[in-house]
Order: sequence, then C-alpha cells, then structure tokens
Amino acid sequence: MRASSAEPARAKKFMVAAANPLAAEAGVAILKKGGNAIDAMVTTQLVLNLVEPQSSGIGGGAFLVFFDAKAGRLTTFDGRETAPAGADPKLFLDEAGDPLEFYDAVVGGRSVGTPGTLRLLFETHERFGALDWKTVVQPAIDLARGGFDVSPRLHDLIVEDGDRLKRFSVARDYFFDREGEPLKAGMRLKNEAFAETLTTIAEKGAEGFYEGPVAEAIVATVQNAEGNPGRLALSDLANYRVVEREPVCLTYRVYDVCGMGPPSSGALTVGQILGLLAPFDIAGLGPESVKAWRLIGDASRLAFADRGRYMADIDYVPMPLKGLLDEAYLASRSKLLEGERALAEADVAPGMPPFDHAMLLGDDTAIEFPSTSHFSIVDGAGNVVSITTTIENGFGSRLMTGGFLLNNELTDFSFETHDADGRVIANAVAPGKRPRSSMAPTIVMRDGKPVLAVGSPGGSRIIGYVAEALIAVLDWNMNVQQAAALPHLVNRFGTFDVEAGTDAVKLAEPLKGLGFAVKEGDLNSGIHAIAITPRGLEGGADPRREGVAVGE
Ligand code: GLY
Repeated sequence: MRASSAEPARAKKFMVAAANPLAAEAGVAILKKGGNAIDAMVTTQLVLNLVEPQSSGIGGGAFLVFFDAKAGRLTTFDGRETAPAGADPKLFLDEAGDPLEFYDAVVGGRSVGTPGTLRLLFETHERFGALDWKTVVQPAIDLARGGFDVSPRLHDLIVEDGDRLKRFSVARDYFFDREGEPLKAGMRLKNEAFAETLTTIAEKGAEGFYEGPVAEAIVATVQNAEGNPGRLALSDLANYRVVEREPVCLTYRVYDVCGMGPPSSGALTVGQILGLLAPFDIAGLGPESVKAWRLIGDASRLAFADRGRYMADIDYVPMPLKGLLDEAYLASRSKLLEGERALAEADVAPGMPPFDHAMLLGDDTAIEFPSTSHFSIVDGAGNVVSITTTIENGFGSRLMTGGFLLNNELTDFSFETHDADGRVIANAVAPGKRPRSSMAPTIVMRDGKPVLAVGSPGGSRIIGYVAEALIAVLDWNMNVQQAAALPHLVNRFGTFDVEAGTDAVKLAEPLKGLGFAVKEGDLNSGIHAIAITPRGLEGGADPRREGVAVGE
C-alpha cells in the first residue's frame, strides 16, 4: 500500500486545515487581520456550523487541545455536552427495559445534551484571543446573510437522510425547497435565523446563547419535539461549564503524543494502540506489510476491549486513567501480540490496568456512528489548535432552532445500564454526566515543542484513523497529505474494516489468511492536519471530504 504522491499545502507563517474551504479561508482571513489561532478557531467553527451544518456547531460539543506558545504549555478544554439534570439512567430503554432502536432514540428531543461548543469558544477566546469577540463572530454573520453555495457533500447527505430530516418542520423548511426537493449542490443558501442568533451572541457573548431567547427556543424545541420529547431545561443551559483538563500523553519513540482525556476515550485508546506497538519495528515493516497491519489491528482490538470496560466520564466513574497507559501494563499486554496470527476472539478481553478501585464493571457495546468535523490551526506566534467538534449523528437530532441543528450526543451513552451479568456499565446515563466520546484531537510534541496537530471525524473509527495517521507520519515518514490520503484499515471489535476501492483491498486476503474477519466498505475519515517542520508549515486535508489546508 503505497503513499500517494500528493504534496502537502505549504505556508511560512500560519495555516488552517478544515473540512470546508469557506471555513478554512474565513479562519485565514482572521489570521491575516492579526488574529491568533484561538480567534481563527472561533471564526472557523462558526462558519463550519453554517456551511457544514450536519457535522458540528453551537448546538453541539467539542474538545480542544491547545498549545499556548507564550506559556509554552499544552492544555485541553472539554466542551462536551452534558445529560440534563432531568435525565434518568433508563433514558434509552423502552417500557419493557429493552434498548430503543438507534434512530428512534436519536431523532427528536430525547437525545439532546446541553451544548458546550459555544461556551468553549467564548471562554477560550476571553482567555487567549487577540481580536475582539464581535470581530471573530462577524464573518459567519455576513456569510449567513449573504449566502453560500450548498456543497455537493451537503446535498448528498440531505438526499441520504431525507425521511429523518423531513420529520420536523424547521429542518424540513431549511434543507428542502418548496416542492420538497433536497437543496441542490451549487444553490445559494441564506440563513437569516443563524445570522440573528450570532448577532445576539456577538453582542452578549455566551450569555446570549445560554440565557434569554436563544436558550428558551432551544429548550422549547427539545421539550416539544413531537413523538420524542427531551428533558433539557433552562437550568441545564445556565449551569453548563467548560472543564480545563490535563492532556493525556503517551511517549512514542521520540515523541509525546498528547490529546483529550475522559470523557473522551480518544487519547487513551490512541495512546494504548501506540503503546502496544512500541516494542515492534512498525517503521521497518512499512505500510505494505501484512504483519504491520496484523499488529495494528490486534493492538487496536485490545485497546477497544479496555475502552469498553473502563472509559467514561471520569467525574462520575472511577477510572484507571494512569493505569491504562502504564508502561509495564502496556508492555505485558503487548506480549499478546507476539504470535504470527490474528488473536482469537477469546483472547481479546479487557486487561487489569493498575487501579486503586476494585470495581467490577460491565462492558459497553455502544458504537458511535460516523459524523463530526476536525480542524487544525497554527498561527504566526506558534499557538496550535487541534479541535474535534460534533453534533454526533449526521444532522444530529434533526431538531433545528435559531438556524442551527441540535446534537444527539446523549446516544453516545450506553443504552443499557448493566451488562448481562448485572455489572454496572461505566458509560451509562446519569444527570449532568458527559457521554463517552471517541474524538481524538491530538498534538504531537518533540522536546517540548509541537510538531503535528491532527484529528478526524468518524465515530468510534476516529481512533483508528488518528492512530493510522500518526503511524504514517511518525513511523513511515509520510508527509501530512500522504497520511490523510492513506487508504484505511481499521479494527475495533474483531472485523478488519478495509477501505473499498483503494490499495488497502490488496491486504484483505492476506489478513483473512491470518484469521481476521474482513469487511470492505467506505471509510469516511476527515483528517485535517498541520505539521510544523524545519521547512515551514505543511498541511493535509482528507481527500474523502471537501476540506483544504490554506495558509500564508
Ligand atoms: N459523537 C462522536 C464522538 O464523540 O465520538
């Protein structure tokens, strides 16, 4: 499996890599005005909300990994949605105690968590931004009023989601024309309601969203969702807090690979995969080696076994945070990979990481579905933003108010509260709790300095996409564009997902020969990465989406 010959985008001063050209260019315009990476992050996110509404926005949540160049410090911000105070652990069980069908749970108010993205943008901007708040919000207001061209991807997704998206009138009226036909690619789309919401936010800051008419409209939309109302209340919005957390880092070769800890499983699971691979010569084996992919696939399965048992919102559930990346623990788990064939199903069980709580937890089998958006920014002062942002499922809960879609993030919780043996599942619903995520915004450090920002959408496959991109750059010496374009092979729960129509398919038979179940299909990552190299900035945008890396 060869790397493509693709060249990365190059820049000397600053760069934005994001899932839509209008959003990336709006971020770059802010950098040109003298804004820093955090200013550009606010603008890029708000424009993404408008032009890629199905993936992320102020109706959802986000995780930010940030390198603050002035302080020389890496930190993370958790803007994950919370379950409303009125949520009960049986939120996703029917009257007989059985889990609801996935889309019965998703579509409507039941799945909507308290959004965190806007407070994350506002608070980090208050702390680190250089331009004033109104200046960074204004570009999205102008674009919402002036209109933008519907992208081919947005058109295709409206077509695919037609029946669900038509269920509630506000989304139906926005995404379909008067004849009920999906908006066509290239059509000019304006969003006056979003312009009004953002005008309120520009004037009042986060309070313009978490209190007053915008908050009231969100709550009314959720509570009155016909057939599937939710329990989000004004007090949930007023009480929402962003949490600053220590980054979770794993030393891999000469690098520190750092990312978002719980409630995301991202950095821990990516870190476990790399930690389990550390004793093997992945660099020497190379990207065409079946052995390399056997090791990556089985390392990933072992990491997912631990993820299913131990990872959840650490503010609610005791977790072996340090134990899961403990060197001796990973070295002992790594020995399981020393055979020649795929691990037998029975050998892919959670391990026993060092843990000061003797807790017997059940295993969560929830699978997050592909959605979400990732963007990376580096500014002229050396600040680095790596942010993954989501409303969960494509088009979230399908509820829309104020010109933006509301998330369905609560379906990232386990629907079941206990496993078949009656053990509590760590990722079960509780009031105020944050659902476990797979989002893995990452910054790689070398000798205390950032060298790479990377992340991807893709539900629980995010972890595999990010691990693969890291291996491609750090072990296989690919540039970030080659890493973003590299065909995917992802293993989470036993089956090797192999990207159809790519060179990855050549590895399907050899992997079957080693005992893996293999399935070919689309693997829609959205990797947006920036490498900080001695030659300058190099950007990569996933060719599977519409994104770009641009800079100056
Ligand atoms: N909803 C996608 C994730 O948080 O992993």
